[in-house]
Amino acid sequence: MKYQSACPWTTAVAVLACFWALAACGDQTSQESESETNLVEAEPLYQAHCALCHGKDGDGQGALVLDRPARSFLKGAFSFGNTEEALFRTISNGIGGTPMPGFKSTLSDEQRRALAAYVIALGPEQVQVRPGESEYQVTDRPLVVRGGLPPIADGLAPVNRGLLVGGLDGLTFEYNTKPLALLGVRQGEFVDRKDWQGRGGASLQPLGVVSHLIDGGFGTCNWEAETGSGGWIPQPAALVATTVLEGRAWVEYDLIPGHSGEALRVKETGLAISLGGWPGFQRIFHVIGGLGFERLRLAELADHKVELVAKGPAGRLLRRLSEGEEPTFYFKHGLGMEGDDQVMIVDTLFGLAPTDENLKALKELVQ
Ligand code: HEC
Repeated sequence: MKYQSACPWTTAVAVLACFWALAACGDQTSQESESETNLVEAEPLYQAHCALCHGKDGDGQGALVLDRPARSFLKGAFSFGNTEEALFRTISNGIGGTPMPGFKSTLSDEQRRALAAYVIALGPEQVQVRPGESEYQVTDRPLVVRGGLPPIADGLAPVNRGLLVGGLDGLTFEYNTKPLALLGVRQGEFVDRKDWQGRGGASLQPLGVVSHLIDGGFGTCNWEAETGSGGWIPQPAALVATTVLEGRAWVEYDLIPGHSGEALRVKETGLAISLGGWPGFQRIFHVIGGLGFERLRLAELADHKVELVAKGPAGRLLRRLSEGEEPTFYFKHGLGMEGDDQVMIVDTLFGLAPTDENLKALKELVQ
């Protein structure tokens, strides 16, 4: 098979994306404020940034009426963890698929920590619940566990060989490993290792709430390769290794061409982002070698699945076409180089309603 370029992705990705613009990424760390923030200072922050939806007193009755109501804090029950650390992550990253925005780029670390403490203080006095003995929590470095997994969505089969990658940001990336494919992304606590309780065959119990399913969670192929005749076929991937390096977990796999060509080694990682308050996650792909492919694309971004909303110098904004559901937005940064690796970044942002106003705000972010 001929190939048109020394970099197998160039042709594929050049079609969809143009510029390498890491600088435009929404994950900028905000300025740390020097001042000591305490509960007293958290109150005006709360009134300024949260009361609109959560109510002045935290009762969930804010001025802004949402079709998906904001949470009342007075009962102190949280779906994504009730520790200060867990609330800090929720406030930083927002909640995918809901109107709860992420405040990572608008509020400093200290302000978000103060708000986490403030929200806890609004609730009843906490009964400290010890996590179950088999509950496994991400504390200071990402964790990777392998084992059987229950179905990620209704109507799907359990996964015999699964892989969970839990990041420091409270996101869990859930994979099938045979063939290797990301099934979905969860948010919340990490995993209950029921498989540790000595009963054979027990599967892992991921604890986070699913905020995004990749291709419905079927999980066979994340990639597609172009055939000689211009069509696209699913491209299976084989797991090579997982590594944890400098606070980030990487999943490494090979895409092996059907004919006798050189495999393409891909290393990917994911993290929570928030772009202008839109919560979401970022997948970073490093590509090494692999001249056996002409063109590859992420199956999720196939032309018939996404609709182009905006094109900006920093990348393209693609909207997922999905009937009935809230839309998902993809923001593609395109290709760049890091050392000898080619790097591609794809952001997935969870849609607020696709009103003209919201779309305009998002387009401006992409410019
Ligand atoms: C635009 C409306 C909106 C704003 C502004 C907003 N929230 Fe929320 N928030 C929501 C909604 C809606 C939910 C419920 C999401 C769901 O369905 O689980 C939520 C949920 C939460 C939760 C519960 C998470 C859990 O584990 O269940 C916390 C904590 C929270 N918000 C904190 C804040 C804080 C602190 C601020 C201000 C810095 C804030 N929110 C601003 C809409 C908002």
